[in-house]
Parts: sequence; structure tokens; C-alpha cells
Amino acid sequence: MSKQDDHFFNTFSVVIGSLVAIAIVEFAIARAIGNPFEEARAAADSEVAAEVDAHTAPVGRLAIAGRDNSALAIKTASAAGEAAAAALPVPKTGEETFQTVCGNCHVAGVGGAPRVSDHAAWAPRIGQGKATLYEHALKGFQGKAGFMPAKGGRTDLPDDLVKETVDYIVKKAQ
Ligand code: HEC
Repeated sequence: MSKQDDHFFNTFSVVIGSLVAIAIVEFAIARAIGNPFEEARAAADSEVAAEVDAHTAPVGRLAIAGRDNSALAIKTASAAGEAAAAALPVPKTGEETFQTVCGNCHVAGVGGAPRVSDHAAWAPRIGQGKATLYEHALKGFQGKAGFMPAKGGRTDLPDDLVKETVDYIVKKAQ
């Protein structure tokens, strides 16, 4: 290798080396400047907040006797608030209503709700007559076992649909 080549390689390495060093410094500066903005943007982003809310929402809620249980109205994940509950699709049949609304409590017995499979628990209730069952399902009912919220918390359901659902429950529970 000639002396000239040596000189060229030395200069070339120094130039490349300093370019790499400058790139690293620029990267660090850009991050330092950008990070606070990125964090503020993420914190202010309502979509991100809604997503976090949706992912950290409790899986179940209990109605408590004598308290205001209106917050139990089921909200959709968009968490945008007011309009959400009203935007829930209204089920079409008694069976569908049971599966999407009433079953939340009446399948596993949440909050003292009589399980639909518990025939012994339903016998005396059915004995009261359909009119009482309708009334308790429509208007809500505080019994010895727990609190039955009006229309299972879905006050947007039509009365006839709730009655149809009571019929469905009674048929399964008999
Ligand atoms: C948040 C839980 C919950 C949901 C949702 C719910 N129920 Fe109930 N339900 C209860 C509890 C608790 C009782 C028992 C009250 C008691 O006797 O102490 C009950 C009792 C009843 C009874 C018996 C009332 C009586 O006089 O013995 C009927 C009928 C009934 N629910 C219908 C429904 C229908 C229809 C829906 C859906 C539209 C529904 N429930 C949704 C909790 C719930």
C-alpha cells in the first residue's frame, strides 16, 4: 500500500467515524426533544384512554340494595359515556334477552339472583303468579335474597320484551 492510500484510509475513517458520532448525538437530541411531546400526546389521546379503560374495566358488577345502582347500566367499551348505554342493541326475543341481560345474574346466581336451573328456588316465586313476577322484573324488586334491578338494569328494554323474558325464565325454571 502506498503512503497516499494510507493517508486516504486514515482520513476516510475519521470522516465516517465522525458522521456516525454525529448521527448518534442527533438521535439522542431528537429523543430528548420529542419524548415529552409523545408522552403528553399519549396521555391526552382519548382513544388510548378509552382503550385502557376498556381493558381494565371490572368483569362483573353488583347491585347493592338500597343504593343508587344506575351506574350498573351496561356501557360499551368506547367509554365515551352517555350515548353508550343507549346504543346497546335491543335483543329481539325473550331467550336473547335472557342470554344478553338477565343471564348475567340468573345463570350463576350473582348477587343472590335465583339461578334459572334452581327449580326449588323458583317454585315459590312462580307460585306468586305471573303478574307479580312481571311487576318485579319491570320495576325492580328488593327481596330477601338480594336486589333485582328494574328490567335487569336495561331500562331501555320494552315492557313486553321483559315479560316475554320472564315467561322464558319461568319455563326453564319450572
Ligand atoms: C344484577 C343482577 C340481576 C339481573 C341482571 C337480573 N336480575 Fe332478576 N333478580 C336478581 C335478584 C338478586 C333477584 C332476587 C331478589 C330476591 O328475591 O331477593 C332476582 C329476581 C328475579 C325474579 C323473581 C322476582 C320474585 O318476585 O321472586 C324475576 C322474575 C327476575 N329476577 C327476572 C329478571 C329478568 C327478566 C331479568 C332481565 C331483564 C333479570 N331478572 C335480570 C338479580 C338480577
